[in-house]
Amino acid sequence: MDDSEPAATITPCPDGPLLVRGSFEILAGPGREDTVTDRGVVALCRCGKSGIPPLCDGSHRLVGFRAPAPPPPE
Ligand code: FES
Repeated sequence: MDDSEPAATITPCPDGPLLVRGSFEILAGPGREDTVTDRGVVALCRCGKSGIPPLCDGSHRLVGFRAPAPPPPE
């Protein structure tokens, strides 16, 4: 990895999860399994309805979650 590259990037999906790419660790909390990745991709729930938080399980589609993509940079 180039030193100018971030260790991880986060991309909000329109009406869906946050895609986290890169090398990072998710400390999920008591009773939940931590997630460690090395240049992988993980989808984090932002609708609050996932059955496997903090990961997305696709439930956002069932509940009609809406979060439009941010406008493109000018
Ligand atoms: S964003 Fe996919 S289940 Fe919440």
